[in-house]
Amino acid sequence: VFVILFNSHTQATDEVVVLTVATDDNHGLERFLRSAKVYNIDVEVLGKGEEWSGGDMNFPGGGQKVILLKNRLEKLMKADNKEKIILFTDSYDVMFLGNLDEIVKKFKSFPDTRVLFSAEQFCWPDAKLATQYPNIEVVSPYLNSGGFIGYLPEIYEIINSNPIKDKDDDQLYYTKIYLDKDLRESLKITLDHKSEIFQNLNGALSDVQLRANTTEEWPYIENVVTKLRPLIVHGNGPVKNTLNHYGNYLAKSWSVNEGCVLCKEKKIQLKEDNLPSVMMAVFIEQATPFLEDFLDQVIDTDYPKNKIHLFIHNNVEYHENEVEKFFGAYSKEYASAKRINSGDFISEAEARNLAKERCINSACDYLFSVDSLSRLESNVLRYLLSSGYDVIAPMLTRPGKAWSNFWGALNSAGFYARSADYMDIVYGVIKGVWNVPFITNCYLLKMSLFRAPKAKAVTYVQEGHDSDMAFCASLRELNIFMYVSNEEDFGHLVNPETYDITKTHPDMYQLFENNMEWTTRYLHPEYLANFEEDRKHLMPCTDVYWFPLMSDRFCDEWIAIMEAYGKWSDGTNNDKRLESGYEAVPTRDIHMSQVGLERHWLQILKDYVRPLQELVFTGYYHNPPASIMNFVVRYRPDEQPSLRPHHDSSTYTINLALNTPNVDYEGGGCRFIRYNCSVRNTKKGWLLMHPGRLTHYHEGLLVTKGTRYIMISFVDP
Ligand code: UGA
Repeated sequence: VFVILFNSHTQATDEVVVLTVATDDNHGLERFLRSAKVYNIDVEVLGKGEEWSGGDMNFPGGGQKVILLKNRLEKLMKADNKEKIILFTDSYDVMFLGNLDEIVKKFKSFPDTRVLFSAEQFCWPDAKLATQYPNIEVVSPYLNSGGFIGYLPEIYEIINSNPIKDKDDDQLYYTKIYLDKDLRESLKITLDHKSEIFQNLNGALSDVQLRANTTEEWPYIENVVTKLRPLIVHGNGPVKNTLNHYGNYLAKSWSVNEGCVLCKEKKIQLKEDNLPSVMMAVFIEQATPFLEDFLDQVIDTDYPKNKIHLFIHNNVEYHENEVEKFFGAYSKEYASAKRINSGDFISEAEARNLAKERCINSACDYLFSVDSLSRLESNVLRYLLSSGYDVIAPMLTRPGKAWSNFWGALNSAGFYARSADYMDIVYGVIKGVWNVPFITNCYLLKMSLFRAPKAKAVTYVQEGHDSDMAFCASLRELNIFMYVSNEEDFGHLVNPETYDITKTHPDMYQLFENNMEWTTRYLHPEYLANFEEDRKHLMPCTDVYWFPLMSDRFCDEWIAIMEAYGKWSDGTNNDKRLESGYEAVPTRDIHMSQVGLERHWLQILKDYVRPLQELVFTGYYHNPPASIMNFVVRYRPDEQPSLRPHHDSSTYTINLALNTPNVDYEGGGCRFIRYNCSVRNTKKGWLLMHPGRLTHYHEGLLVTKGTRYIMISFVDP
């Protein structure tokens, strides 16, 4: 009657002591303890704060675990605890996936078993022992010491049956006992070959499936070979990154209905009257398109500047003036400011180390590392600080591309590999904060973590490796987890691949690679207003439409590019640039093909001019618009001041004013003879669009002073 009164929960938890070893308090342990908490499991951590003398765990070692366990069990043995169950697991790379009731029930279902060890597919650390195993015709034939469960007296006996030293290998120790037939049988030791409880991941990655997208609320793993759902998972040996990936979902970290549960648990509230102090470390390591925008974004960061220590490493001579201007204007507003120039000849990796050291050695709570390729919303720093994660990057991608500032997985050589969820994260199908093996370009580091003695090993400098690869590798080595968040839209990355600083105004050439910044800077601020409903399009002469197209800055830089090139045509009928070699109505001009902007201009015609044409000359669709003649004309009194009446050989012609009458020049304009109508007050950045041959016979009016520039295309000749 007494027994019946106990429910199975109390029974199981009462009789089980759950033990682990963790000398260090790291993210692996944090994850392990959280998973225990999620399943109501009380864990006793052995060895806390002690020196680890169990060797480098990339090699045989770990005897210290056995010794710690031995000391603990001695105390338990003194009481009469014969039927007490001991569950032991590693901690840095282990997660609970079920509660103790389930675990104990499974254990008790093993026939004739008093101790159950987890099992794996590698006979490690001594492969020669494989032949001594009694049964290898199973999924996981060999003993793994990262998890076992059994009755106290038997485990006690196992642990005391042979001497062991800290540096000896614990797995080898247990293996030898298991392979001793007498001991195996007398102590009733069994291996969990099918992963009824323990799933070791090393060697088993193709057997194990993460099920994160089912009708069940909580993701789980399934061993698809044995069709079982393990209750404890162990990322033993070199597959820690896979466990990190699983950890994003398992132990109720992710809910199929609610998304990222763990993110919500971690969040902290920033105290406005006591904001942490941050080193904002800015790295300009390569020639960067639209750097000006980047520096504006640094200034616009939503955070009090007296809480920010600014650190800038500019490694690009080309950007020196711009950085100088920025630093001169704003550095005094920051709590402190340090600048390293390209002339200081400090490598990227060294500079990154310097920033980290500077932050470690000062009253700096966080290091916010930002590369010039990143384009951030102003709230990113605050978001990262309140995320509660120690190492976290905001996800940034090249717009519309799968290129991002994180890797979801690593290949065996330590380079990029695509994780199963990479695309879903990049495209925002799932949103959350993700434990990943590599982050770059922009991230926040909590400095307390890096002040620990062990963290001295964190470095950006490693022979033969990029600085960010070296950095992330050293974090992984220390069990420091790095995360990337795609909870919100944080910004994007610019693409520096084709950036050519030998060009005049190289940003102008970035229409394709960095279209977002290009259109922001170069399209007319009123361009989109052209498409507003009820918009009255200006028509200064019959069928001559007038639209705002390009910005002032576009016009200035466009002219500057032409003048820097400088090879204006001579205004004669002979024109070698044309197939025929003959121009009937010659001007002083430069063709876009001469300055490498032909492809760009045609794209402008297609993306920004054609939609205007379709607004006003309705019913005519020609996509993409064709245009062979695209050129800037220069009119000036001492050169060619006007152009005689002529027809254009085009379906329609566009004429973009690049400067301003009565400011940059006097006179000028365009007269449409058939309608006796002139447009003299042309507007910089505005486009005149009119039909070509037949109706719009026109002439270029005399420029009497200064220089007039226009950009012309004969569309669909
Ligand atoms: C693998 C097995 O999974 C281990 O159970 C086994 O001890 C080891 O091989 C071996 O036989 O040498 P692995 O999983 O890669 O090793 O090892 P780690 O997880 O890095 O270390 C094992 C456990 O030792 C940790 O999970 C942690 O519980 C403890 N440990 C390790 C510390 O407490 N402090 C340390 O500095 C290192």
